[in-house]
Amino acid sequence: MNLFTKVIYYLKRIIHLLFKENFHKKLKYDWNLYPRRYEIINNLIKFKNFKDYLEIGCFKNENFDKINISNKIGVDPISGGTHRASSDDFFLTNTKKFDLIFIDGLHTYDQVKKDIINSLEFLRENGVILIHDCLPRKIWYQTPNRMSFTWNGDVWKALVEFRTKPNLDVYTILADEGIGVILKRKNNNLLKISTSNFQKLKFKDYFYKHSEFMNIIKHEDLNKIINNES
Ligand SMILES: C[S@@+](CC[C@H](N)C(=O)[O-])C[C@H]1O[C@@H](n2cnc3c(N)ncnc32)[C@H](O)[C@@H]1O
Repeated sequence: MNLFTKVIYYLKRIIHLLFKENFHKKLKYDWNLYPRRYEIINNLIKFKNFKDYLEIGCFKNENFDKINISNKIGVDPISGGTHRASSDDFFLTNTKKFDLIFIDGLHTYDQVKKDIINSLEFLRENGVILIHDCLPRKIWYQTPNRMSFTWNGDVWKALVEFRTKPNLDVYTILADEGIGVILKRKNNNLLKISTSNFQKLKFKDYFYKHSEFMNIIKHEDLNKIINNES
């Protein structure tokens, strides 16, 4: 990161502290202790014998190239994948159905919400949506306006919103910056929350309630949960 970018990030942080939220505690997850996203994705593909994979946001194909599956499509407006387009444009013309969709494009609440809604339309009935970057550890990692090299964005707020839908079952795997899971079935642990403006949720609330907000699960339990056995 160059000096100019650093200075800009620090100026943005000061403005954020003064006018938006001033909270300094950090979650202490060490992602090195957990499997990587492609290991979780490949295990799931094998377990469910999935054939059709879509990745939204591919960047340098660090994940995309490691996915072992018969058919894969990667969508990114800048680099990587197989289709040079934004996710919105891709979904406008897409006609294919997918077994597994990995959402890792623009990390803002609004865009992730759109990506989830569009993905649900093109997901097979027993398919799975996975969403990267659901467990930011610091306030600076999750501001919608980027202020840090590590940037999860406010993806977590979209997950919280979908946790309140009775017809979707939503979890977050404790691994690799937090991997959201959405299944098209009855919600087994509906989140009741007093807000309807999810974008305005505060990091402080997330910090203290993230286990409940995000419905955190261990990666070892994923297969059982997907098969509705727990
Ligand atoms: C965090 S990177 C993806 C990393 C990759 N999935 C991996 O696991 O290594 C985010 C990518 O999303 C792309 N992106 C940004 N806006 C997007 C959009 N509207 N639709 C699809 N991709 C988008 C960016 O160009 C960037 O390459």
